[in-house]
This record gives sequence, structure tokens and C-alpha cells, in this order.
Amino acid sequence: MNKKIAVITGASSGMGREFALYIDRHMHNIDEIWLIARRNERLVELQQMINLPCVLINDDINKESFIEKYKIMLKQENPDVRLLTNCAGYGVLGKFDEQVREIETGMIETNCIALTNITSLTIPYMKKNARIINIASAAAFLPQVDFAVYAATKSYVLSFSRALNHELKSKKIYVTAVCPGPVNTEFFHIAENGVKRAWYKNYFMSKVEDVVENAMKDSVAKKEISVYSKSMRFLCIASKIMPHGFLLKVMDIFSKKNQ
Ligand SMILES: NC(=O)c1ccc[n+]([C@@H]2O[C@H](COP(=O)([O-])OP(=O)(O)OC[C@H]3O[C@@H](n4cnc5c(N)ncnc54)[C@H](OP(=O)(O)O)[C@@H]3O)[C@@H](O)[C@H]2O)c1
Repeated sequence: MNKKIAVITGASSGMGREFALYIDRHMHNIDEIWLIARRNERLVELQQMINLPCVLINDDINKESFIEKYKIMLKQENPDVRLLTNCAGYGVLGKFDEQVREIETGMIETNCIALTNITSLTIPYMKKNARIINIASAAAFLPQVDFAVYAATKSYVLSFSRALNHELKSKKIYVTAVCPGPVNTEFFHIAENGVKRAWYKNYFMSKVEDVVENAMKDSVAKKEISVYSKSMRFLCIASKIMPHGFLLKVMDIFSKKNQ
């Protein structure tokens, strides 16, 4: 019998870590969890909190050597991947023309290219009723001033996930794009690289446990998009019916207030 596994990228903190804890508590059909991230000490700490056996993959998902290693692990183990959760990612606030080029392009590599590589390598090991959860963001709904590349990468994740969900329906594999607003994780430690987030983001801040629980339930319900909180659902609808130019101006006014 092939081992039934869950794979989580970005498992060392925030949503990835919370997905691991949730899977351990609630997914009784899983034999093993593969935890992927660069900070090994965090993965070891998480492993000690989890009852299920864990495989720690302490690596940078942008490296070609990681892709090769992951490919070989899948081939050797030949697991039945029941759930792939792509959480690894980062964003950096600030004006595009004032940013370090490598940090900006790094967002494309981590949030888009690595996610695509891992998804592509994992799908051959997924069977009927397997699921993929890709963490996009409410930033995917429309362009974001001072978060230009990040919002664009998340639009990619949302668009890619939705199309993939339709393509994989014939195999009965289901993809959910998770689009939260601000969540209380370490995300903003990196994002606020000398630039303070807009004050209203604090007002809309969600708890990581709530976002993950909602995402898991939406994934089980085979929902294509998971949006936690009424305010983000409103933003999702507004971005479909209102001109983006108008919404960008409103966000600009809100950002300048209290600066
Ligand atoms: N928090 C928010 O407000 C928010 C809102 C919407 C969407 N999101 C998205 O949610 C996802 C999870 O973020 P989070 O909020 O949980 O933030 P977080 O606590 O900073 O977690 C990010 C995770 O990604 C991993 N990671 C980043 N780059 C990596 C790389 N090159 N290789 C391997 N692992 C890497 C980090 O692990 P290591 O550093 O140990 O490698 C960490 O485990 C991200 O895609 C983020 O864009 C966040």
C-alpha cells in the first residue's frame, strides 16, 4: 500500500504551520506529512507538536537542487498524495522603483514559479479525491499600489488555480485558491521592510487558525475559491463590479489617512 501523505510548503510558520497542526488533528486518512521550508529548527519544533510521522524537507523551494531532490523523493516513495498545500511565499511593501530588483523578482520565483514546479511534480502522485490548496491572497482581486509585484503574483496563483481546478475535474482532483486579507503571521515582518502597512490592514486582520479552518472546510467542499471574512468577500465582489481605477483611488485615500 502506498503511504497517504500531505505535503505542505512554507510549513515553518504562519499558515503552513497551522495547516500541519490542523491536518494532524482532523485528517484521519493521512499516514505522513511532508513539511517543507528553509528554517529547520522551526520544522523540528513543529514535528514535536504533531502526532503523525513527519518528513522534514529543509530547503529553498527556488533552488534547482530542491526540485531534483523532491522529484527523487516522490519517485522513490511513490506516495499517494491526498493533499498538497502550497503556502510558501512572501511579499514586500513599497514603491516598485525603490525596491531591490532581486527581492521583487524573488516574489515571482517563490510565489509563482516554485508553486508551479511543486504542483506539476506532485499531480502525477495524486488520485481521485486528492486536493490542492494554493494560498493566493485578497491582493489577487485587483492591482495594489505599493504591493505591485506581490499582488500580480497572487493574481497568477488565483488564475492558475481556477483553471487547474477545471482541468483536473476529469481526474476528480480538486483545487482551492485561498484568498485571505491580512492574517496575523510573520508575513508582515518581511513585508514591512522599512515601509509601514496601511493602517486599515490592522482593522481587517484575521486569526491564522480561522483562515486555515475555513480553507480546509472549503477545500473539502470542493470550492474553487476560499475567502475568509465578510470584508474580503465584499472586496471580492466589489472588484468584479466596480472599476479598478475607482477602487485604487479609494485605497489610496485610505492609505494616506493617518500617515
Ligand atoms: N499573512 C498575510 O497577511 C497573508 C495574506 C494573504 C496571503 N498570504 C500568503 O500566505 C502564504 C503564507 O504566508 P504566511 O502569512 O503564513 O507568512 P509566513 O509566516 O511568513 O510564512 C511564509 C512561509 O513561507 C516559507 N518560505 C518562504 N520562502 C521560501 C523559500 N524560498 N523556500 C522554502 N520556504 C519558503 C517560510 O519558511 P522559511 O522562511 O523557513 O523558508 C514560511 O514558512 C504566503 O504565500 C503569503 O503570500 C499571507
